[in-house]
Amino acid sequence: MDMVLIAAQSLDGFITKHSEPGTAFTSPEDKAYFRRILAGFDACLFGGETYRVSRDFIRERLPGPALRVVMTRSPERYAAEAIAERLEFTDAAPAALVAGLRARDFKRCAVLGGSHVHSLFFEAGLVDEVWLTVEPVLFGGGTPLLARRAEVGLVLQATEKLGANTLLLHYRVVR
Ligand SMILES: NC(=O)c1ccc[n+]([C@@H]2O[C@H](COP(=O)([O-])OP(=O)(O)OC[C@H]3O[C@@H](n4cnc5c(N)ncnc54)[C@H](OP(=O)(O)O)[C@@H]3O)[C@@H](O)[C@H]2O)c1
Repeated sequence: MDMVLIAAQSLDGFITKHSEPGTAFTSPEDKAYFRRILAGFDACLFGGETYRVSRDFIRERLPGPALRVVMTRSPERYAAEAIAERLEFTDAAPAALVAGLRARDFKRCAVLGGSHVHSLFFEAGLVDEVWLTVEPVLFGGGTPLLARRAEVGLVLQATEKLGANTLLLHYRVVR
């Protein structure tokens, strides 16, 4: 199964502006691109914090993937919010989660943040590609792309200007 990490960040590497949760800082062009590309995935996953911040969007307005998986240490807390085959909550480790999706014949999974989930999947060696939008802003602080130290090599595969000042970078992860 292909695992693609998709994120938008400031030029200095933050996926939130300061302590504001959410992605209000991203450009209209990135928002349109994000909606468009999700159609190419049949599963996607989020961390519990991203789910709590963007609950309505993830539940009701997120286009694309049939299945949304939320990683939480307390899946039982969300039992009333779960929707079979549509919105699932799990405390499975990344390797078990991916093996479970593969066994159910899912083909392409988007890893949609936040930073803790990014780190978990890189640490498990389970990210194949990174699709990164770089917005033309500097924040000097915020939630970083990764929650913990890492050393991951990447090969640049493609670049695109999403808008006058917004760059999209496609990388393949070196294994
Ligand atoms: N710019 C972007 O592209 C982008 C993308 C996504 C998110 N964001 C932003 O990033 C922020 C959230 O990022 P974040 O790093 O704070 O949080 P996060 O990665 O979304 O979620 C962290 C949560 O994941 C769960 N978790 C962590 N380790 C786990 C494990 N080993 N097993 C199971 N569950 C585990 C825990 O949930 P429980 O507390 O429920 O146990 C933890 O609180 C939000 O403000 C969001 O809007 C930005």
